[in-house]
Amino acid sequence: MSSTLFDRAKQIIPGGVNSPVRFYEPYPFFASYGKGSKIITKDHDTLIDYCLGYGAVILGHAFLDVINAVRTQLDKGNIFCVPTENEVRLVELIIELIPNIEMVRLMNTGSEATMHSIRLARAYTGKKKIVKFDGCYHGAYDYVMVNPGSSASTSAYDGNLVESMKQTLLVPYNDINALEKLVKQNKDIACIIIEPVLANMGLIIPEDEYLNKLRRLTEREGIILIFDEVVTGFRLSLGGASEYFGVMPDIMTLAKSIGNGFPLSAIAGKKDIIELLSPKGTVFQGSTYAGNPISVTAGIATLEKLKEVKNDLYPKLSRFSDTLSNGIKDHIRDLKLNARVNNISSMFQLFFTGGQIKNASNVRQSNQVLYKRLFDELLKSGIFIPPSQFETCFISYSHDDDDIDRTIEAFANGLTKVKNSE
Ligand SMILES: Cc1ncc(COP(=O)(O)O)c(C=O)c1O
Repeated sequence: MSSTLFDRAKQIIPGGVNSPVRFYEPYPFFASYGKGSKIITKDHDTLIDYCLGYGAVILGHAFLDVINAVRTQLDKGNIFCVPTENEVRLVELIIELIPNIEMVRLMNTGSEATMHSIRLARAYTGKKKIVKFDGCYHGAYDYVMVNPGSSASTSAYDGNLVESMKQTLLVPYNDINALEKLVKQNKDIACIIIEPVLANMGLIIPEDEYLNKLRRLTEREGIILIFDEVVTGFRLSLGGASEYFGVMPDIMTLAKSIGNGFPLSAIAGKKDIIELLSPKGTVFQGSTYAGNPISVTAGIATLEKLKEVKNDLYPKLSRFSDTLSNGIKDHIRDLKLNARVNNISSMFQLFFTGGQIKNASNVRQSNQVLYKRLFDELLKSGIFIPPSQFETCFISYSHDDDDIDRTIEAFANGLTKVKNSE
């Protein structure tokens, strides 16, 4: 069934998919529906989902509190393009849950949020250049597609404006000396944008004090620090990476978990910066769908649930992530495989390499053929991890002990097959 659907799709949709990351050889499975931790495919397979809309579905698929709230709102209209009370409620909730946030503008996608936060930084500082890190992914527009991660890392960039991309300076992740050198040589830097945990090059965790040093450097040099928390916001902890690491950026971008996967994103930060957005300020940003009643309703229901269950949810996600990672590491050791696992909070990823994984170059050197082989084996065992090594695995509130046990067993089986194929 999926193969027939893919045959139809590829005739009329470029590559048969509506976002490149979704394609893998020979063809992707098509989803029929999702419930909790599972996706049920058009081929009638039930898969435990560790992709979760690339991190968006923190509560689980078709989570009842969110779905019921959205159902009620659907009867009341889905778009007005005039302000609604719920927009104010949602922003009040975001400000309550994330420390030190004063003002928020709601948008639809992560790309939009990062694009406008860079524009804000340029307007605020009067400077032009931006710094990004090798392997970080911030969306699909010209000046952040400079060594991006995710599926963009293996793509060509025809049609991008080279002049625009030249405004972007690149440094390796986890290397504060390289960054200090770059900043010393360039006096025209408006902002440094970073994924505080790099989730688009597999999973790369910031070294101790790295984000603190970054904060001190940007403060000293008058550079705006943007945390792209599209993945980490409300996932790493209720207050995201800034709360988790105790480092406050000037601007943060939020998406994915904010609405349990409904199209909803935000730019958040101090009032004097965010208020530069029009109509109050001079930085234009607008969208027909921004703050639409459906996404906003999903956002309120999601954040209220996260707030209600936070003392159960975040420790549980960390426990599952540790149990899974340790279980996988045990099998790696037993099989004497050249592989390692990185994990933090509800995120984990495996790399086929004997070396450490602290930047994008390390990830590129890991064995992606073996990763795809493992992906294929796991899929056969009913486990769905991202098909690409350049993505991260996620856990939701709907996963349970049985899912975790079955997943460790499937990894044992998959890793044995990979070992035997070497
Ligand atoms: C860290 C990060 N920033 C930005 C984006 C872009 O978000 P969107 O795909 O909603 O435009 C993504 C998407 O995966 C992301 O992971």
